[in-house]
Amino acid sequence: MNVALGVGGGIAAYKAAELARALMRHGFTVSTVMTKSACEFVTPLTFAALTGRKVITDLFGNRSADEILSSSVEHIEVAQQNEILLVAPATADLLAKFAHGLADDFLSTLYLAFRGQVILAPAMNTNMWEHPATAANVATLKARGHRFIGPDAGDLACGTVGAGRLVEPELIADAVAACAGRKMDLDGETFVITAGPTQEPIDPVRYITNRSSGKMGYAIAEAAVARGARVILVSGPVQIAAPLGVEVVRVRTAAEMRDAVMANLEAATIVVKSAAVADYHIANVPDKKIKKTAARVTLDLDPTVDILAEVGAKKGDRLLIGFAAETNDMVAEARRKMQVKKADMIVGNFVNAAGTGFGSDLNEVTLVMSTGETVPVERATKKDIAHKILDHALRLRLALHSAR
Ligand SMILES: Cc1cc2nc3c(=O)[nH]c(=O)nc-3n(C[C@H](O)[C@H](O)[C@H](O)COP(=O)(O)O)c2cc1C
Repeated sequence: MNVALGVGGGIAAYKAAELARALMRHGFTVSTVMTKSACEFVTPLTFAALTGRKVITDLFGNRSADEILSSSVEHIEVAQQNEILLVAPATADLLAKFAHGLADDFLSTLYLAFRGQVILAPAMNTNMWEHPATAANVATLKARGHRFIGPDAGDLACGTVGAGRLVEPELIADAVAACAGRKMDLDGETFVITAGPTQEPIDPVRYITNRSSGKMGYAIAEAAVARGARVILVSGPVQIAAPLGVEVVRVRTAAEMRDAVMANLEAATIVVKSAAVADYHIANVPDKKIKKTAARVTLDLDPTVDILAEVGAKKGDRLLIGFAAETNDMVAEARRKMQVKKADMIVGNFVNAAGTGFGSDLNEVTLVMSTGETVPVERATKKDIAHKILDHALRLRLALHSAR
């Protein structure tokens, strides 16, 4: 697949060289287009040497009229030859030009001629990013269906701290690869996905938790975003980074998770409950640490809120997908859970299967659906399983709608 990499004139232009390499490692053919300002920060030679391809910096170049007219019109040719136009760093100036349709250099002219997927990775000073003019341009470009990657927040080259840093090149390349490989069949959907374990405090320093890593829920969030969905990920404490483009709500306890899910339910079209929520919490958590003594301690546990059942009772037209981690009678247990909780699909997995489940990058699941269908999904990476779950969720919703 071919990517036109547009490089704007910002400090982060040097990172675009690394990005070109990362895109090539993903198998993309990269054609670089640099603005005049970008050439002040890095040389076209860097990109030509890295990509092995000509770098375009100018609409007209040093060519005679005959030379220009005897070859094909370059910005139209580049627009037709590439499936993706990725601009990184996208300067405030480029965002403004794109939003308003100006075409006074090669990159902005290419943008207007381009009909493929546009991905923008902005980088600039925080004040520039937060300026109402930039915010309005970003809103216009988003409304046009363009994808934004970042910016990140952190230390900026201008010496300030805040939003405006270019997302790391490797992560941009991963996100582009994810976009490129998938159809955008979840465009317009909003997912609320829960993931990870919860922590139920025993006292101010101790808690009860479980072995959930959050990997499955995070993989579903990543897959859904790559297919065009808006994703709100309600995450318990985990050790993994949030996928790009996902809105993360961090929670600790089952009660906090319930509140975050219910607060976002209105927006959701599909709810995926993959978190391993604690079944019990301590009835009365002391505000002082429990002292160690020789005496036996008994903890009084109350059941936690049943989030799946509460969403099931209020789900309306939403598709509700739950998870059941079982050690035996998995399909029967999944079917029972689906009926009681009013879920549309339960993803059942044997937690004691060797090499899969908690913490592993692999999984092997059975999809139990309210239509009566049961689909075994062979052992695969959690990423691949995530896409299979989403494929079946769309199919299931179609079947449920046409059955009404
Ligand atoms: C040292 C320096 C650093 C700059 N860094 C940025 C930046 O990170 N982001 C940005 O939007 N503009 C930045 N600018 C301003 C742009 O270079 C300027 O708006 C230019 O017109 C952008 O041209 P282009 O959008 O055609 O690449 C910087 C300017 C200078 C002199």
